[in-house]
Amino acid sequence: MSVSSIDAAHPRFLSKPILITGGLKVALVQLAVGPDKGKNIAAAVKEIHKAKERGAQLVALPECFNSPYGTKYFNEYAEQVPTGETFRALSKAAADASVCVVGGTVPERCGNQLFNTCTVWNSNGDLIAQHRKMHLFDIDIPGKITFKESEVLSAGNKVTTFDYCGVTIGIGICYDLRFYEMATVMARKGCSLLIYPGAFNMTTGPRHWELMGRARANDLQLWVALVSPARDTTAEYVAWGHTMLVDPWGKVVASLEDKPDTLVECVDLNTVAEVRSQIPIRSQRRTDIYDTVDKTNECSN
Ligand SMILES: *[C@@H]1O[C@H](CO)[C@@H](O)[C@H](O)[C@H]1NC(C)=O
Repeated sequence: MSVSSIDAAHPRFLSKPILITGGLKVALVQLAVGPDKGKNIAAAVKEIHKAKERGAQLVALPECFNSPYGTKYFNEYAEQVPTGETFRALSKAAADASVCVVGGTVPERCGNQLFNTCTVWNSNGDLIAQHRKMHLFDIDIPGKITFKESEVLSAGNKVTTFDYCGVTIGIGICYDLRFYEMATVMARKGCSLLIYPGAFNMTTGPRHWELMGRARANDLQLWVALVSPARDTTAEYVAWGHTMLVDPWGKVVASLEDKPDTLVECVDLNTVAEVRSQIPIRSQRRTDIYDTVDKTNECSN
């Protein structure tokens, strides 16, 4: 098969993004998360409204923002989509503030399964996307560390993208960030921005968090937002923090430290077009030799 015939199968992968004046103003919220669910929800709602006051059109929350991070907590904090109290609060905050809310992640209950799930609400408070973490983090290093998300969680089977204000946005959760192929599929679906709520730890955070955010941005020539909870050194799981926004050049344009804080920045689609035209790897890939394939439709959820 020739290069062009393969690319023709993915027309949006090559097409220029729709340009919106000034781009999309996004807020990335590095929340402090504790054991009190009501407090966690109230803090998230408050930050959504504060971000709106700073001009944000889209507000993204971190992974596991209504519950401490850990397999033993997920069952207790889990809720059904869209009726659970956390989801209702996100929907209402999105509508009240008239912003798009990328609701970090929440343990989701569905039948007798639990998922680590990101819900996305538009400015009317409608649910417009739902991503279930696809890659569960399981490690067992004898005498050192055992951490098995699959003991309690089930994995999602779908790549998730949605459109907001003319921008196609993809969602991955934490460990999903390590899987280049998944990000490639989202880029092929036309994404100009990938948002990863995530909680890397104090070992992998300093080594890989920024590196992988920049790698995905550079390789796929799109914006990448990494959204972590704030660091709590008294918690069982200590998150790295360092919420950041990376541009399609692979440059970190804004980042936070470890404390609770919010960054508000503009995601400019002109930068996407600029990088893609100056470094034309998209049209010069040798898809006659290699390829990354989306098999979503072969997999039932
Ligand atoms: C963080 O995760 C890595 C990778 O699984 C592990 O090797 C390390 O021990 C963990 N670090 C901490 C501080 O928990």
